[in-house]
Amino acid sequence: MLVKVSVIGLGYLGATHAVAMAELGHEVVGIEPDVRKLEALKSGILPFHEPGLDQALHNVLASGRITFQGEHDENSASADLHFICVGTPQLKGSDAADTSYVLAAAKALAPHLKPSAVVAGKSTVPVGTAAELQRVMTEVAGFDVNLVWNPEFLREGTALEDSLRPDRIVVGAWNDHSVDVIREAYAPILNLGTPFLVLDVPTAELVKVAANAFLATKISFINAMAEVAEVSGADAVALARAIGYDERIGNKFLRTGIGFGGGCLPKDIRGFMARAEELGVGSAVEFLKDVDAINLRRRDRVVALAKSELGDVRGKRVTMLGISFKPDSDDLRDSPALEISQRLAKEGAVVTVHDPVSLSALAERDPSLGREAELIEAVREADLVILGTEWKQYKVADPVLLGSLVATKTVIDGRNVLDVDSWQQAGWKVIALGRTIKNA
Ligand code: UGA
Repeated sequence: MLVKVSVIGLGYLGATHAVAMAELGHEVVGIEPDVRKLEALKSGILPFHEPGLDQALHNVLASGRITFQGEHDENSASADLHFICVGTPQLKGSDAADTSYVLAAAKALAPHLKPSAVVAGKSTVPVGTAAELQRVMTEVAGFDVNLVWNPEFLREGTALEDSLRPDRIVVGAWNDHSVDVIREAYAPILNLGTPFLVLDVPTAELVKVAANAFLATKISFINAMAEVAEVSGADAVALARAIGYDERIGNKFLRTGIGFGGGCLPKDIRGFMARAEELGVGSAVEFLKDVDAINLRRRDRVVALAKSELGDVRGKRVTMLGISFKPDSDDLRDSPALEISQRLAKEGAVVTVHDPVSLSALAERDPSLGREAELIEAVREADLVILGTEWKQYKVADPVLLGSLVATKTVIDGRNVLDVDSWQQAGWKVIALGRTIKNA
């Protein structure tokens, strides 16, 4: 059965979820107070880069199944299911997650709820937040509000696909009616045989942070091995492949390089530590401090390598290939490539950034860094090239052509994606994280 859905907060998660719900056939009202985002979405323009989502948005707009508005009204109040998708960024000056947007969204929604409606939290929150939201909404609404926690596991770059074909759907609920409504909303996905896990609410809240903490730990584990490999003549890429054949370990999320960034893993592990500390069990997840530190040391390593190649970096031309925190995204939040570029620029290097989609995001975020949309122009006269994001076009770039343009044929492969042999054959000195590469 189809349900009427409202989706509150149309950032990355909310916009993707709203489109996915409409793709499943539901009638969707998207609510976003930011006028710029709202107007963009109304006219079919995504305020961020996400492959395939723009076309899907176009389709669902044309079908009439989705509408966007700035605030709640009678239309959104008739929804059977309301998804809260607002952000929980890291609080300034603290490791904790800022839950004020979630709380504000719940308070604003409560007067517009019908008693049978279900509110589903999708934002990543510290465990215990849902109980607080339920209490606040019930107070405002004057009846027991049906709240569930329904974490989202989508990744940027594959967001729509992850939403429509997730590994699992998790819901933490206090009553059966809420579970039934959620089941209806996801029916087309559940009919594909997708596992549906009905849990208690705190567990559902924890699933999300635990999953992200585990993924971050896996990446930092292999990056810790990279540190050891770098001083022992070993190769962390080969090591990852070798241990990954063990099914208990698995080969995913063991790509060594300049580490994780983005709006999720870094702030989620910090928020998790802060929450555990509040609950008196800080030592249980204290290891995440090391996970964070290992991750940040990879950035130091690239800066150190750049300095040892360039000597005095002042006035030296450095080209950064890729600036987003991962390919197929223009998200610059906590991007390792951005931090490395800024640190080198601060020390006096002339940094030129190339990126297939993120240059306008960069212009807004840090206009002081040089930007060049043409790869060939970006590398011209470079004293050092650093690969910061593994966009496909860098993997297939012609090292002979690029070599004919730079001042010095030295490349630091921050993501271990370049074909070392062909770059070396073209005369490049190749430096890669976690590997000891013999250059002529
Ligand atoms: C992450 C999780 O993977 C999603 O499941 C989750 O829903 C999302 O956060 C969220 O909390 O909303 P995302 O941040 O989009 O998704 O990107 P990931 O694919 O997890 O990559 C994160 C970072 O780790 C990137 O900077 C990537 O380059 C890096 N990474 C990833 C590595 O350095 N090595 C790897 O092996 C994998």
